[in-house]
Order: sequence, then structure tokens, then C-alpha cells
Amino acid sequence: MSDTRHILVTSALPYANGPIHLGHLVEYIQTDIWVRFQKTQEHSCYYVCADDAHGTPIMLKAEQEGLHPEALIAKIARAHQADFAGFLIGFDNYYSTHSKENQYFANRIYTRLRDGGHIQRKTIEQSYDPEKQMFLPDRYIRGECPRCGAADQYGDNCETCGATYTPMELKNPKSAVSGATPITKSSEHFFVDLSGLQAMLKDWLNSGAVQEAMVRKLNEWFEAGLMPWDISRDAPYFGFEIPDAPGKYFYVWLDAPIGYMASFKHFCDREGVDFDAYWGMDSTYELYHFIGKDIISFHALFWPAMLHGASFRKPSGIFAHGFLTVGGEKMSKSRGTFITAESYLKHLNPEYLRYYFAAKLGSGVDDIDLNLEDFLLRVNADLVGKVVNIASRCAGFISKNFHGQLAKQLHDAQLFEAFVAAGEPIAEAYAAREYSKAMRDIMALADQANQYIDTHKPWVIAKQSGQEALLQAVCTQGLNLFRVLLGYLQPVLPKMAYAVEAFLQAPLTWRPEPLLGCFISPYQPLMTRIERPQIDAMLADSLPPATRQPAQPQPVAPAPAAQAAVIDYEVFAQVDLRIARIVAAQAVEGADKLLQLTLDIGEANTRNVFAGIKPAYPDPAQLEGRLTLMVANLAPRKMRFGISEGMVLAASAGGSDIFILSPDTGAQPGMRVK
Ligand code: 2FM
Ligand code: ZN
Repeated sequence: MSDTRHILVTSALPYANGPIHLGHLVEYIQTDIWVRFQKTQEHSCYYVCADDAHGTPIMLKAEQEGLHPEALIAKIARAHQADFAGFLIGFDNYYSTHSKENQYFANRIYTRLRDGGHIQRKTIEQSYDPEKQMFLPDRYIRGECPRCGAADQYGDNCETCGATYTPMELKNPKSAVSGATPITKSSEHFFVDLSGLQAMLKDWLNSGAVQEAMVRKLNEWFEAGLMPWDISRDAPYFGFEIPDAPGKYFYVWLDAPIGYMASFKHFCDREGVDFDAYWGMDSTYELYHFIGKDIISFHALFWPAMLHGASFRKPSGIFAHGFLTVGGEKMSKSRGTFITAESYLKHLNPEYLRYYFAAKLGSGVDDIDLNLEDFLLRVNADLVGKVVNIASRCAGFISKNFHGQLAKQLHDAQLFEAFVAAGEPIAEAYAAREYSKAMRDIMALADQANQYIDTHKPWVIAKQSGQEALLQAVCTQGLNLFRVLLGYLQPVLPKMAYAVEAFLQAPLTWRPEPLLGCFISPYQPLMTRIERPQIDAMLADSLPPATRQPAQPQPVAPAPAAQAAVIDYEVFAQVDLRIARIVAAQAVEGADKLLQLTLDIGEANTRNVFAGIKPAYPDPAQLEGRLTLMVANLAPRKMRFGISEGMVLAASAGGSDIFILSPDTGAQPGMRVK
């Protein structure tokens, strides 16, 4: 076994302004498999990530939703983490770039760059929205293409003719924020001067840390000579203020990769791990960033330049991957192929997708396609038809005929040894991110294991008297081959691996000794087939609401419980919760579920509230005189039957059982609760 290595791994930080979708998941699944694989080899390997929480789009989205940016990013952080957990992404730490650690490192890197003479200040002209009083990023300016005249084009390139230009060249430009015509305004910006770092960057790029295809792409930047990189933005901006420049903020892409350090620092402080051993200039530990090919320049030019200029180590490797297409095309909301993690998880097992992506992923930057027909056929054929089948064909005989005990000897020790030896090339493939090769090798072994069972036919032996020992040995052999395979699949199928450990009552390891003479648990089905209606239901969920077809009754997996957004104490404290006495309760004509309640909330105040509790209290009279909790400061709401002036709170265990405070608690109408 190789010596223990110390490895730190990251995936790109998702922006905190939208949901995780299957396109994102290519990367998180790719990274998670690699990290889990390193852990099976008994290396120390940590995996950190965070939400990328700063920048103009997040600031504007929060404004649109009537939220403070901090409330928006808190809400999104919860949703992202629920999605990642659903897909079994095993981060050692998940954090946010809007954190004190990140501000500390952003300031530290900036001041070191400045003191090392790498920061320049220059006044530049940019488009400015005079109504909204903010500078406009290119994507917030729309107008006519200066070349072909196409309408409604972005400020930097034309989607019709492909021309590239500056926003100032657009004809009839309009701010996408306010609709105003932008003006040109100048302001001082801060730049990282890359000229002094160019030679260092070239050496590093040629050291093998970056894939060949990406190095070729980056060479285009060097041919033109590296231009200074603009790292500042003017207020209003959601980000960190530059320490020596009030009103100026770090551009989101300055503090985003620093978020890798910050998340790891947060982890180190919690776990007592030595941060400097990983990030010091002379670190011998390994640092890898998994990213999409579109953000290579930020990771393979600006990021190493920042690190080097600020006396931190550079990455050992940047692993870029391609994009995801669905059915051969870019994911599209209108076609219903923009599939969010949440809608996938509502209908399908995450391990199907983990396996499918693994079966398609190599170490290069080619795009990968999710073809849903192929997805169904391949997962069903490989995981259910080949892998799980091995266990289900052998386990029943061991349980029924041998009280769950395995034989004391293998039937074909050589075959077992061949399976263990095959672990070496499979490990090499994983390490090199050639997962599709690893999956091919594993499925070839699964075919061999099934052939072994076909040849020895335990179901025939079981009918022959005096062949008990042979039956036990053949099934023991099959289960041992299965265990080796699951060891190899563990990085891809961690949940199934866990269930197999429970079933075999033994850990999965890369180089196992055979399990002999011990007891196993009764077999439980490890994976069910993908059924077409599950895929259809997921696609129906992914269509924009207006085009959705009425739902067909479909057998779908139970949905995970919906998660409510977290609210701050300040928000909670604004709720005026009062005890109210139900002075009158009556049914509402034309409404099956509503009761009209007249509530005494003290101080001679009464409120009219419509509450959907009739199923629990079909006889409204029984409510009269009882006490309930009510939200007294809810804005009045006009309903079909009248105005509802608040809301009653009642807890229910489901069904029609709703509990309201009993009148003998001593509570009085008007009492404030909290
Ligand atoms: O492209 C993106 O989605 C960015 N949020 C990735 C940031 S990766 C790192 F640099 F933080
Ligand atoms: Zn054009």
C-alpha cells in the first residue's frame, strides 16, 4: 500500500442565487467519487466547498425578493445543502464566502499583493444606470447589436451574429435593472498587475498541473500578454469592502476562490487540523480544484497569481470537466430539461445518476450527455441486472439452508484472487479520473461473477440431495465476489455500500480477504429498477408551471419532506402571537373546509378569521369558548367569503386531529405569547 497522502479537494462554489441542477451535479458527483476513492485507499483526503455568496446578481435578486442579501443567501445555503446531502455528496465542510474567515483571507491576500507591488489603480469608464445609481455589469445592459442590428442583445456579445463588443457600442442600450438609458461614468478601479507574475504562471502551467487542452486554451491569453485584472467594484455591491478604499468592494471573483481557504480554515478550527501545513508556500500536501472548463482562467491564471503573489502555495492540479447536455442539447427550461436536484430527488434514487455519470466520465473536458432512455437501460442493466443480481441469486440459499452462515472455504479461490487483483487497474482508473474505464472493468467482473453462478447453478444443486456443502460453497463464492465488486463501487454507490456492509456484517475494503464461516443478515433488495413513469414525472416537474400537463397517476418514490427557509429571530420576534377566545364559530356556505371564527383578542377587540379546520371540527359549536393561539398582526386577507383578519395556530399529527388550547389553562384572551 502507498504511503498516506494529505489531500485537500474542492469543487467550484455554486452561486447563492439559484437551485442546484443536474449540470452542477456532474462536478459534485465527479469530485465526491474521487474523494471517496482516495479515502478507500486510506489517504487523508478532505473535501470542502461553500456557497459563492457575493456579487451584483445576488444583490439584485435579494432586492427583487424583498430580502436582505444575508437572508437570501441563508435561504439558498439551506436548499443547496439539502440537495447535496440528497445526492450523497460527502463534504467535510460546507461554508459561505460571506464569512469572517473569507474576509480575513481576502484582506490578507489583497494587502500582501499591494505591499508586493502587484496592485495598480486606474480610472476607467463604464456604463452607469443613472436611475438605479449603480454601475452596470455587461449582462445587465441590453440593446441592438452594432453589427447586425439584432434586438435585445447582451452588452458584450450578440447571440444572433456572434459579434463581440463593449456595452458602449450597443445601439439604443437600456439598463436591464431600471430600463433607463445608461450613461458613461468614470471611477477608479484596482487591478492585479499580472505582468510580473507571467513567467511564474507559464512555468506552473507547464508543470502538469493543468490538462493539456486547457493549457492550449490559456496560451491564447499569454500570446496577447496578460492584461491587469480588475478586482474592484463600486458601491452598491454585496461583498467585502476593500480595506484601504471605502466605497470600493472586492469583485466577487477575487473572494470566491479564497472561499476554498476560508471553508478549510473553518474546518481546521473545528477539527484541530493544521491549516498552514496545507496552504503554506512550501507545503508538500496536495491541493486539487475540480471545476467546469468555463472558469479555467479564474483558476489557472488569476488564482495561482493571487496565491503566489501573497506567498501561499499554488494548486497541485486543476481538474476541469465539460458541460452536461440532456438528450444532446443544452438544458432548457422551456423544454423541461432544466432538471433541478430537487425535482430529480423527488422521483429517482441519487445512486442511479451517480452511476450513470461515473459510467460516462473521463479525465478530459468533453461534454457529457444525459440521455434518459440510455440512463434507464444502463442503470437497470448494470446495477440491477448485473451487480445486485449476484447477491440476490446467492443470499436466499445461505439464509434458508444454512441459517445465514457462509461456507468455511471458497469454491474457486483463484477466481476470488483474480477479482482482488483487478482492483489495481481499477484504482489507477479512479485516481486518473477515468471513471468510465473503472465502471467498464467492474461490469466485466460482474459479468464473470454471473457466469460463474450460471455455470454452477445453485438452484439446481439445491435440489440434489447430499450436495449441501457444494451449495454453501458456491453461494459463498458468489457473495464474496459480490463483496469485492461493492468495494470497488463504494465511491460511486456509498449508500448501497453501506447497506451491503450491514447485509454481509463486514466492512468493504479494496483488498479484502474472503469472508468465510461467518454469518450474514437476511438479504433485503438493494436497488429497484428505474421505471419510465418516474422519469416522466421528473420531466413533468421540470416544465415551467404554465406548460405543465395535469399530473398522471404515477408510482413515484416518496418525496423528501419540504424544508422551510430559516428565519432570523428578528423576523420571528415581529410575529404578534396572542391568546384568543373563540366566541363564535360557524360553517361557511360553499366551503368544505372553512370555519368562520369570531375571536376575542382582549381589550374588547374581536377579529373575524376564516380557518381551514372544519374537517377536524365538523360541529363548530364545540369550539365556542375554547382558546387558541393567533397571529394578530397578519395583514388582513380578502377571501371569497369575506376578510380574514389573522390566523389561528393549531398543531396536528395529521388527519383530522387538531388540538387547540383547552379553556382551563388559565390563559386569558389578549395575553401575548413568547
Ligand atoms: O461559476 C460559478 O458558478 C462560480 N460561482 C464558481 C466559483 S468557484 C471558486 F472560485 F469559488
Ligand atoms: Zn449581431
